[in-house]
Amino acid sequence: MTKKVVLAFSGGLDTSVCVPMLQEEYGYDEVIPVVVDVGQPEDDMQEAYDRAEELELDLRVVDASEEFVEEMIYPSIQANGSYEGYPMGTSMARPVIARHCLRIAEEEGAEGLAHGCTGKGNDQLRFEAVWRRSDLEIIAPMREHNLTREWELEYCREHDIDVEATEEEPWSIDSNVWSRSVEGGELEDPATEPPEEVFEWTTSPDDAPDGGQTVEIEFEEGEPVAVDGEELAPVELVKHVNDVAGSHGVGRNDMMEDRVLGLKVREVYEHPAATTLLKAHRDLESLVFTRRQLKHKQGIETEWSDLAYAGLVDEPLFHDLQAYVDSSQEQVTGSVRVKLHKGSVRVVGRESPHALYEGGMVSFDEGSVTDSIDQTDAVGFSKYHGIQGRMRDWY
Ligand code: ARG
Repeated sequence: MTKKVVLAFSGGLDTSVCVPMLQEEYGYDEVIPVVVDVGQPEDDMQEAYDRAEELELDLRVVDASEEFVEEMIYPSIQANGSYEGYPMGTSMARPVIARHCLRIAEEEGAEGLAHGCTGKGNDQLRFEAVWRRSDLEIIAPMREHNLTREWELEYCREHDIDVEATEEEPWSIDSNVWSRSVEGGELEDPATEPPEEVFEWTTSPDDAPDGGQTVEIEFEEGEPVAVDGEELAPVELVKHVNDVAGSHGVGRNDMMEDRVLGLKVREVYEHPAATTLLKAHRDLESLVFTRRQLKHKQGIETEWSDLAYAGLVDEPLFHDLQAYVDSSQEQVTGSVRVKLHKGSVRVVGRESPHALYEGGMVSFDEGSVTDSIDQTDAVGFSKYHGIQGRMRDWY
């Protein structure tokens, strides 16, 4: 019987090296590479197609871009998902990729599941949090052999795997429709400014158009549904905002990040749509939420994001937090205008049928909640306000 292993595949250096290793070192007869489309650029998909062809493998392609945006990214907007201040991308995509690999492994009667992650990063944890639900053998050749890039390049040459393109581009890149991350190479020195060539989704803010651009985003129950009056399906909407905001240099991020294992990493990100949509969404919440909701949700968001970052989306607490987030979004309908200008996003206007705000004139309308308010009512309140501080013997 053929011994099969499913490999989460991108066609990059690491997952290419995995193929002969799985055959030669781990005794698998058939490697089934799986590439999952989570809205990464067409070039990335092409890299997987080309490499699979070169290696004479029967590549399985799963189109999960809608699933990814609808089930992971839109909830992440509603939860204002961010880890140490950046919108999470890779961590949101991994569970989706992992689930499809597991499904295919089960359908194919495979005995193993493999990934090309190292033993230092987060992705090993995110894949395996899903995969260890099964009893299949889990293989991580990079981690098990402590492989270096140099060794991998040499190994490819020995196995006639063409790595020319990889040699020129020393970064490790991970992309999906929500975010592009770049690490490694000269970026490993946190003091080095990222060269302009690491950026692909964003115009340099210096070169972005002087006048900027105002964009209106419409939300329904916390989900973006239209841009400048045009209704767009989720994947299209995110791609469109990536293009527009990226052309204004919005969404670059250069940061030190704390991985789950405790190691720090210098990471460079591009996420124009995420920066824009999260800013607009947060702003809309500040119009429709009570201050207690606003304050409480911040704690929920931090916890939600920590679990999502770790890939623990099957943790029961994550489901509980998600239920809270869902319920909170009922009122988050309305539109927000943002100005994109040379790398920045500024909210310049917002409106909602559920606004907890009444402008000066409106408050004189009949039926208004604030109708019955008489300014002199505040006198009593102000007498109590700060009373304990006044009783303390400061002076
Ligand atoms: N640091 C990010 C994370 O753990 C991104 C890692 C993506 N990998 C890469 N090769 N750039 O979510």
